[in-house]
Amino acid sequence: MRSAARPRSGHRDAIRWRKPREDPPGSRDVMDDALGRPRHPHRREGADAVLIGAPMYNFTIPSTLKAWLDQVIIVGHNAGSPDGPLSGTPFTVVASRGGSYAPGTPREDFEFVQNYLEKLFAGMFGAKVDFIVPELTLAPSKPEMAELVPLAEASRTKAFADAARKAKDLAARLAA
Ligand SMILES: Cc1cc2nc3c(=O)[nH]c(=O)nc-3n(C[C@H](O)[C@H](O)[C@H](O)COP(=O)(O)O)c2cc1C
Repeated sequence: MRSAARPRSGHRDAIRWRKPREDPPGSRDVMDDALGRPRHPHRREGADAVLIGAPMYNFTIPSTLKAWLDQVIIVGHNAGSPDGPLSGTPFTVVASRGGSYAPGTPREDFEFVQNYLEKLFAGMFGAKVDFIVPELTLAPSKPEMAELVPLAEASRTKAFADAARKAKDLAARLAA
């Protein structure tokens, strides 16, 4: 997205959202840079960290996220090699879902978000992948899930705590 209102910043962003000035009109989105597409040899390729939102849709990732992944993952450029530009990069995925697919739950085998993205990012990029999983998010709005509301609230609280801890760890690592 291009926007004149986007804040200008001189600091090192975790993910580069700014469009570089030298990009020709119509060139691909800056998220290409986040995943290390080697377009600008004078700039360091790859992101310091990558944050992905992956709500569960029909047991897997949304089609929009899949479409984006299919555009930005390029084997031989940023993927498929152990020493690619994102090797060792911390990836954090927020994988929210209306139900629960935790080990031991009836739908455990229907989980195709974490299982998929872990293999994709670790396997294709050599990234370090962490998940934050707010689950049972539909419990407060579905009468048939009323008894699960306390578990949903606990999951939400844990997700916020996980996010705060990971953000702090990451900031400390990037500043070091
Ligand atoms: C099209 C669609 C499909 C969904 N499919 C599932 C599903 O298969 N399993 C599930 O647990 N929740 C499912 N949900 C619920 C979402 O995962 C849940 O509302 C989640 O919290 C949405 O993410 P957000 O809170 O980050 O917006 C679905 C929601 C939508 C809109």
